[in-house]
Amino acid sequence: MVTILSRTPRLSDFAFVHTAAYVEVEDVFRSESFGRTHDAETKMRRANRELEQVEETRTTGRPKPSANFKRSSGRAGGWLEEPRESRETVRAILNAATESMLLLDASGTVLALNQTTAKRLGKSADELIGRYIFDFLPPSVAAARRARLDEVVRSGQPAQFEDERQGMFFEHKLLPVFDERGKVVRVAVCGQEITERKHTQQRQAEALELNRAILATSTVGIMAYRATGQCVFANEAAGLIVGASVEQLLQQNFRQNPDWREHGLLQMAEEALRTRKMRRGEIHGATTFGKELWLDCQMVPFVSGGELHLLVLNCEITNQKRAEEVLRGFSRRLRRAQDEERRHLARGLHDSTAQKLAAVNMNLGRLKHLVAGTDPAVRNLVGDIAALVEDCSKEVRTLSYLLHPPLLDQLGLPAACRSYLEGFSKRSGVRVRLDVPDDLGRLPASAELALFRVLQEALANIQRHSGSKTASIRLTRAANRVVLKVSDRGRGISAAVLRDVAQGFGGPGLGLLSMRERVDQLGGRLEIESGTKGTTLVATLPLPVRH
Ligand SMILES: Nc1ncnc2c1ncn2[C@@H]1O[C@H](COP(=O)(O)OP(=O)(O)O)[C@@H](O)[C@H]1O
Ligand SMILES: [Mg+2]
Repeated sequence: MVTILSRTPRLSDFAFVHTAAYVEVEDVFRSESFGRTHDAETKMRRANRELEQVEETRTTGRPKPSANFKRSSGRAGGWLEEPRESRETVRAILNAATESMLLLDASGTVLALNQTTAKRLGKSADELIGRYIFDFLPPSVAAARRARLDEVVRSGQPAQFEDERQGMFFEHKLLPVFDERGKVVRVAVCGQEITERKHTQQRQAEALELNRAILATSTVGIMAYRATGQCVFANEAAGLIVGASVEQLLQQNFRQNPDWREHGLLQMAEEALRTRKMRRGEIHGATTFGKELWLDCQMVPFVSGGELHLLVLNCEITNQKRAEEVLRGFSRRLRRAQDEERRHLARGLHDSTAQKLAAVNMNLGRLKHLVAGTDPAVRNLVGDIAALVEDCSKEVRTLSYLLHPPLLDQLGLPAACRSYLEGFSKRSGVRVRLDVPDDLGRLPASAELALFRVLQEALANIQRHSGSKTASIRLTRAANRVVLKVSDRGRGISAAVLRDVAQGFGGPGLGLLSMRERVDQLGGRLEIESGTKGTTLVATLPLPVRH
């Protein structure tokens, strides 16, 4: 016979698995809300009555119900038809649970428990049953849990709480069990160790806190938008950069923002969303207060909650852009001053020094006549001086030419190129093919000088770096532009130098950079194509349309 809701338990009744207790425990644990614990008890009583009937049937010799019948009878608690087996099953289930399960009376005396509880408390079931549970807990924990139990007994309400014991975290559920008069007579306790979960939560909370701190203190404006265009997140910096509040940004829908369309941001956003790839660009605009603004803008698509979003990172680069502009202005002025200085020097050398040397040469010619037939030592000396003067005048002419070819101003680019190339080939041993249409005509002086300097620098690089023995130059003119193409068949420019030049840094020297700046300054562009088979440099300058 099975005892139900025994008030005066003997130890054997509770020995590790007390069937009645487990019926209760199981039903109580199965009931999800406390309101159903009454049902659970009613069910349990019914189950017990059925059990008694089954036992009676057995003893009066009536045929046992078939296994089939047992399975299909569908009655609640049908498994109780085999009490011993049922007990074993319940015992196994409860002992297999990783949660600790306990049945206490209203004062905290242990009535039943599973193995997990015994293990967790480091005691055997026999040591625990019939004892006051709080004696096995550290005093600080015991007091708090005692208060929880009292509260459940007093209120008849289930409770759920977490606490910490010796560095481990537990989550407890307390469910009251009532007698017929509705008084709480027992409390089922289910405890679960949640240390790992707690640590994970802690780590997550720390990571979130770090994220929050980064977002709040970052000087990069960070915004997130739905693909529909609605802003769902903006940090302080995002607002500060554009001169808006975070609230204003949160009301923004980029698809309805004319600024986004005007500054190419909308197109960037659409591309990023369509290709699912990061897009980056520099944006020039103005803040809401009309202050000039340069942004380095990155757009990164990401998925959140199964929905496509766009992360926008704005880095303000207005000061950097201004500094670059100032620097460009300086280097423009420096180049202009350099060009003027060169022109001035070239003219001085050509018009004055070279003329004077020519005069010295003429005088030396006369001196030669005067000293003819005199001391041979004097004649030789005059001869040496004449040779030196001749060298000097050649050097002065070359120097003047390199500084600024007089032909450039007088006869224009093709003539200056031709005469420059002659000297260059002689000096360097590089054969150069020049291809210029007869009707190229004159170009604006600034364009002629810029192209001449590009040519000069390109040829110097071919001689110094390429290892090529040949070069070819082609000048072409269309209605609105002039194109200079300089190619060699040398070893090519390294990728690192090309990257530096593309980003506006100097390479090892300043030649390529200065070519680019000269061309940029006139609104043109410089393209460099380089590989192991050689280098081709293309400088394109816009021209005013000829009428
Ligand atoms: N035609 C070329 N062939 C091979 N390498 C070149 C060529 N032109 C330039 N380079 C490489 O690019 C570098 C940068 O050239 P440049 O800016 O003119 O500076 P510099 O001539 O003073 O070194 C050179 O040092 C060289 O390594
Ligand atoms: Mg160079």
